[in-house]
Amino acid sequence: MAVMTMATTIKKMETLSVRSLLADSDLTLDDLKLLFDLSERVKATPGEYAHALRGKQLAMIFEKPSLRTRTTFEVGITSLGGFAVYLEHTKPRLGEREAIKDIARNLERWVHGIVARTFVHESVLELSANASIPVINALTDLYHPCQVLADFFTLHEKFGDLKGLKLAFVGDGNNVCHSLMIQGAKLGASVHVATPPGYEPKPEILETARALAAETGASIETFHDPIQAVAGANAVYTDVWTSMGQEFAAHLRNQVFAPYRVTKELMAAADSGALFMHCLPAHRGQEVTDEVVDSPQSVVYDQAENRLHAQKALMLLLLRDAHV
Ligand code: CP
Ligand code: NVA
Repeated sequence: MAVMTMATTIKKMETLSVRSLLADSDLTLDDLKLLFDLSERVKATPGEYAHALRGKQLAMIFEKPSLRTRTTFEVGITSLGGFAVYLEHTKPRLGEREAIKDIARNLERWVHGIVARTFVHESVLELSANASIPVINALTDLYHPCQVLADFFTLHEKFGDLKGLKLAFVGDGNNVCHSLMIQGAKLGASVHVATPPGYEPKPEILETARALAAETGASIETFHDPIQAVAGANAVYTDVWTSMGQEFAAHLRNQVFAPYRVTKELMAAADSGALFMHCLPAHRGQEVTDEVVDSPQSVVYDQAENRLHAQKALMLLLLRDAHV
């Protein structure tokens, strides 16, 4: 019965072009459309998928703290009939106790997939290169693809077609910003980024996003003036000024980023009815005022909720055929 339900809820032909999700550029436009479509179905009728990943096991390696990512992956796999093992790796970090390739070669004997949050992006690449099972990037210093999948799914729910949509990212040119630029460019959504001088997104990622945007008609622009960046934006997005691992520079960053705080006044410079977005955790009073996070324009908790649905869709597509 569960097998029949599975067959009718995900069609055989519904597959992703990749075995793992390591970076946003791995996903094609068709992959993104399929993930949004399945996220919508999983969100509408979760009960239909309750046994879809029965018996599938996931290892979740975290070098950094997490509320949303850990909870949504663990609750997500459990609600699909599977099971997750949490591997706390703040001390020692990945590769210190044993080689990353040995971790991968052990895990592939026991579990069907690996979710990994690491500092160095190459760590998730190395896990994937040495394991025969899917690896999912749960945030690295370079990208946060699962977050941004949920973010664009949220925008799709609010606006429908994403082509022609304009999103402004204000703050640090960090992992979340990189993922927004790449997925946005693929989807035909423009991403305008305002950062202080010296905190721009990485040039090579900007170049990749611009090349992708040239094919979809999106524009990927960088600014130093937040007012210029948010002009005409349908959504204004910000993130912490100090990402995990940069705490040593927090004092300086708090001064440099002060003009980039998202306030009611900055929101008023965007399109009327613009949404406010944040991946969370938010540092209220720093990158965003309480007033904005708690305003009716804010969709931050919708984004957080959609992490669950989008990652369930991702796990369904990546893990259903994975074998130990
Ligand atoms: N947005 C996000 O990834 O949150 P956590 O760090 O709590 O997982
Ligand atoms: N840029 C932030 C995102 C947290 C979800 C960080 O890396 O800490």
